[in-house]
Amino acid sequence: MEFDAVIFDLDGVICSTDEYHYKAWKAMADGMGIPFDRTINNRLRGVSRMASLEIILEKYEGPALSDGDKQRLAEQKNDLYRESLHEMSTADLPAEVKETLDALRAMGLKLAIGSSSKNTPFILGQIGLGGWFDAVSDGNNITRSKPDPEVFVKAAEMLGMPADRCLVVEDAVSGAEAGHRGGMKVACVGDAAKNGAGDWNMESVRELTDIVKG
Ligand code: BG6
Ligand code: MG
Repeated sequence: MEFDAVIFDLDGVICSTDEYHYKAWKAMADGMGIPFDRTINNRLRGVSRMASLEIILEKYEGPALSDGDKQRLAEQKNDLYRESLHEMSTADLPAEVKETLDALRAMGLKLAIGSSSKNTPFILGQIGLGGWFDAVSDGNNITRSKPDPEVFVKAAEMLGMPADRCLVVEDAVSGAEAGHRGGMKVACVGDAAKNGAGDWNMESVRELTDIVKG
């Protein structure tokens, strides 16, 4: 086997919360009169909540905002986002993802989450994966957001695996960079795959069962 562990990003890889993120940021930006579109949104993939806000505020032209103002804007976005998360259920875990996770586990691999999101525990619970992974490293246990490798390095530590035995799965260019900076190989889907950011750029996560075999 080429790898002993797989570390999955959550948003945009395990489930499609990325559209909920977009809609919540869009509502906040519209309320502030800030131009925001899907091109800018792609830069937010993998990036922490406050760092995402800073990217959106690059186009803000109003009076100066205090740290407190920024906290309130981020909270406003998160409240809207959490409303969408409450609608999520096990139906939001795609069959191809669940079947791939089960197949990788049956092959004896350790499986972890490496996500920038502080909402990770809630989302995993909603889609029926609470307590399922061998380790969960997320926005609650890191101080530096992707493309810093911290979240993946911590996931590997939790699993007790050296970096070069771990494969990272990402949909974000920033996340692929984080994996590489952590000394890991990266398999990409979605936006990151379109940008050729991975060592493998996949059409579907189903390809992982072959990739891990080498
Ligand atoms: C990442 C998303 O997984 O989590 C980003 O790709 C998001 O778009 C980040 O900003 C932080 O999420 P949260 O849930 O902590 O606001
Ligand atoms: Mg992602």
